[in-house]
Amino acid sequence: MNVPDHPAARNAVLRPRRLGHVNLFVSDLGEARRFYSEVCGFVEIFEEPAITAAFMSNGNTHHDLGLIEASRTDRVDRDGNVLIAAVQRGSVASLNHLGFEMASERQLVAAYEVLKSRGIKVSRTVDHGLAHSVYMPDPDGNMLEFYADVVDDWRGFWKSSVGKTVTGGWRPQLEAADPTPHYQQEFEADIHPTAPIHARRVTCATLGTAQLDDMLAFYTEIVGLKPLPGSDGRQVSLAGETGEVALRLVHVPGASAGTFLDMGIELAGERPLIDAKACLRGNAFPIEEEQAQDGRMSFLTRDRDGFGVRFHARA
Ligand SMILES: [Fe+2]
Repeated sequence: MNVPDHPAARNAVLRPRRLGHVNLFVSDLGEARRFYSEVCGFVEIFEEPAITAAFMSNGNTHHDLGLIEASRTDRVDRDGNVLIAAVQRGSVASLNHLGFEMASERQLVAAYEVLKSRGIKVSRTVDHGLAHSVYMPDPDGNMLEFYADVVDDWRGFWKSSVGKTVTGGWRPQLEAADPTPHYQQEFEADIHPTAPIHARRVTCATLGTAQLDDMLAFYTEIVGLKPLPGSDGRQVSLAGETGEVALRLVHVPGASAGTFLDMGIELAGERPLIDAKACLRGNAFPIEEEQAQDGRMSFLTRDRDGFGVRFHARA
């Protein structure tokens, strides 16, 4: 995709490739599993019982979706440290974080050093076993994860980690950081054996904000996403280094900080999109905002928690 050059984004700190995954706190993990796996067709690839979490992927990356059951107790990592303090986050259905993929660990650690030197708030640094991550909030308080894969065989990592808590602390060190890209280059989507819909991957997320200018400045000048043509004073689509839409910011006057509106899920084409719409409608899921524009079709539905799910495909 041809993305116009954007000076602020070119000199930005992070410059992720793309949105890799969306991680949600859900009110009922079983219900979320039924929707995202048994209906939408994401294959569950790993679960982390200690934090009541399920991870789903059809091959695009190690997980497109992380689902963690909302809880009023703290979630603890493999080192015994509090990973998510319930008093702060995750006690109700809400966005946990958006995960942006970096090209390499070296690039991630170099960016982390710049963030620190500029006094930009970093929440924590984490070793997920197959990726190393830097977490930080955006100006609305939405949590963002910037991660670099550190293994090529993420399927093998999941297989060897069954029943384990894989997450722990990580100390970024520039000298030791791996410069080799390990992200998934291409993939052939796995097909869920029984689901009526065959999601290919999660591609983007939409955030509502009352302070569009501040959010746009952060996402271009710090994160390094590039505004795409067609943006206006009400909404902006932003692309990562791959050129695909990774994030949409929508001006919502009076929106409370941290308003997650929807995530984009790609289907294989127009026929699968039409079939998905019929299937969801038949199962009493709402169909909203049907669009056909620039060779891409989409519609919005909602899961049982009310999270927006925007299915899209090339016409
Ligand atoms: Fe994540």
